Amino acid sequence: MVVWKRILLVLLAVSGLGLSGYPILLNADSSNCLMCHQKEAQGGISHRAHGLGPDPRGQQDTIDCVSCHGPSTEHASSPRTAPSVTFSSVDEGQSDATCIACHSGSAMSHWAFSEHRNAEVGCSGCHSIHTARDPVQERNGQFEVCTSCHQSEKMDQLKFSRHPMSEGHVQCSDCHAPHGSSAMNGLSAATLNDTCYQCHAEKRGPFLFEHEPVQDDCMSCHLPHASVNDSLLKAREPFLCQQCHIASRHPGTLYDSDRLGRQDINIIGQSCTNCHSQVHGGNQPASSSFRR
Ligand code: HEC
Ligand code: HEC
Ligand code: HEC
Ligand code: HEC
Ligand code: HEC
Ligand code: HEC
Ligand code: HEC
Ligand code: HEC
Ligand code: HEC
Ligand code: HEC
Repeated sequence: MVVWKRILLVLLAVSGLGLSGYPILLNADSSNCLMCHQKEAQGGISHRAHGLGPDPRGQQDTIDCVSCHGPSTEHASSPRTAPSVTFSSVDEGQSDATCIACHSGSAMSHWAFSEHRNAEVGCSGCHSIHTARDPVQERNGQFEVCTSCHQSEKMDQLKFSRHPMSEGHVQCSDCHAPHGSSAMNGLSAATLNDTCYQCHAEKRGPFLFEHEPVQDDCMSCHLPHASVNDSLLKAREPFLCQQCHIASRHPGTLYDSDRLGRQDINIIGQSCTNCHSQVHGGNQPASSSFRR
């Protein structure tokens, strides 16, 4: 039975016809592979861009087994020896090189210096090639792939305030360029704040009255993934504000001030944003002290 299949496949390969009836341009090495590996050839990969056949971009004659696994000649004659490239172990980028042979475009321009590359997480650390779908490229699948290594980002989703990532409403790759970038932490935009403005454009301003740390760095007050405090805040008020503002000077200036309206306010222990609710900046006269 197996022998018949092999003979059939060899004949198909020689005649240039695939099992589906479409021409396949296998080179001699790959038709060899199919003798034993038709399951792989007919499997999920055939539904994806690497389905065996002519390379649509013409970088190689065909995309086939040897495009990725290398010639593997020894393996083909004695299967217990390993194929040339298996993607199974750390090999200092050799297996990436087979991918980059075709994927060297601008999307990959930061790959060589990316943290993943440096940590020897190769292309197949994130991408599944032989399956019909590639979870890391899907809204519902990416979180699981990334957090299979980044466990603390997974645990973070249990916290009180969070970017809704486990359900895929916000994806890791909304903020991080998966193939690296020139920004710190591989962020997807040029600066940290620009990363946030992609979705929170109303915080960009310009405002008549700006709060310096907001324009400077959202992380002065927020955490990016999740927090035990409200609104992704990195500390609770008033401590959040007192990172920078001396609390003791506030009453001194305020208690003599008519503008407060009430003289008996003890601001210590109150949430600063009860009064300074426009903490991101604003355009009204009261915005000069970030009040409404
Ligand atoms: C004579 C049959 C035969 C041929 C021809 C053959 N293979 Fe294999 N291949 C096998 C067997 C059997 C295994 C499983 C070996 C094992 O489980 O250790 C295997 C395993 C593999 C693996 C997985 C190895 C791993 O460690 O994960 C790859 C990749 C592979 N083959 C690629 C190829 C490629 C590419 C070709 C063509 C150049 C090819 N094979 C030709 C029989 C063959
Ligand atoms: C676009 C690159 C690419 C092509 C084309 C390709 N493979 Fe693979 N192959 C991989 C990667 C990467 C892995 C590692 C597992 C994964 O990420 O899916 C792999 C894994 C395998 C394995 C190990 C078992 C498994 O599924 O994990 C076998 C066997 C195999 N390939 C055989 C083949 C054969 C036979 C062909 C041709 C029909 C082929 N591959 C074409 C990239 C490729
Ligand atoms: C022979 C050339 C070639 C090789 C080698 C190759 N690719 Fe591709 N790949 C393509 C082409 C052509 C496309 C079609 C889309 C395009 O034009 O970018 C594609 C598309 C993709 C896509 C998006 C579409 C999909 O089906 O997922 C991913 C992800 C990808 N390749 C990853 C890889 C990885 C990882 C490797 C190495 C294991 C690899 N490629 C090796 C040519 C190649
Ligand atoms: C850290 C995980 C990760 C690694 C490592 C990784 N990718 Fe990707 N890749 C992704 C994600 C996520 C996407 C989905 C596109 C997006 O959101 O930017 C993607 C998309 C792609 C695409 C299709 C879209 C495009 O940009 O053209 C190709 C091709 C691709 N990757 C190739 C590769 C190659 C080649 C390597 C290794 C050199 C690699 N990837 C390494 C996560 C990764
Ligand atoms: C809303 C944008 C956003 C999303 C979504 C996001 N990140 Fe981040 N991430 C950031 C920012 C901003 C930093 C830098 C924090 C800093 O500078 O203090 C960062 C830092 C990191 C770091 C390095 C610092 C550290 O904590 O070790 C890792 C790793 C990381 N993120 C992984 C992930 C993973 C995995 C996901 C998806 C589960 C994800 N991120 C989703 C914005 C985001
Ligand atoms: C196979 C394991 C693995 C997978 C899968 C993985 N990472 Fe990583 N990632 C690492 C390692 C290892 C580092 C190096 C730093 C470290 O040890 O945390 C890293 C570093 C990072 C950093 C810090 C980058 C910098 O420039 O400082 C970010 C951000 C990150 N990963 C995001 C992601 C995202 C987003 C995904 C999914 C698209 C992902 N990772 C998938 C292992 C992985
Ligand atoms: C891809 C879009 C996207 C990006 C990029 C993004 N956010 Fe968000 N952000 C959201 C969504 C969606 C919510 C949830 C809104 C809701 O629950 O109604 C959210 C909520 C928030 C919240 C309120 C959380 C709470 O518990 O109420 C804060 C604070 C926040 N984001 C800050 C940031 C910061 C800082 C950055 C940059 C590091 C950033 N966001 C980047 C989409 C994004
Ligand atoms: C000086 C501290 C501080 C800085 C810096 C800061 N925030 Fe906030 N942010 C807060 C506080 C306090 C709250 C909760 C009170 C509120 O709702 O105004 C908040 C709430 C939010 C919310 C949820 C409520 C809403 O207004 O939509 C978002 C989104 C947000 N911040 C985004 C950002 C972005 C984006 C940046 C950077 C451009 C940033 N923040 C910088 C203090 C800050
Ligand atoms: C990372 C440091 C930092 C944090 C945290 C911070 N601020 Fe500020 N804040 C500044 C700086 C810098 C200025 C500008 C000071 C100046 O112009 O004299 C400022 C200005 C102000 C002003 C206006 C002062 C004026 O002269 O009109 C108010 C009100 C204010 N902050 C309230 C807050 C509140 C409320 C919080 C907490 C939600 C907070 N700040 C958190 C650094 C910070
Ligand atoms: C009960 C309301 C209230 C609370 C609570 C409050 N403030 Fe104020 N704050 C004011 C008013 C009113 C002013 C004066 C505005 C003016 O002069 O126009 C002011 C002024 C300021 C100024 C500017 C002082 C200056 O020299 O011009 C800063 C900075 C400030 N507050 C920070 C804080 C911080 C930090 C907290 C929390 C620890 C806080 N405030 C809590 C009402 C309040």
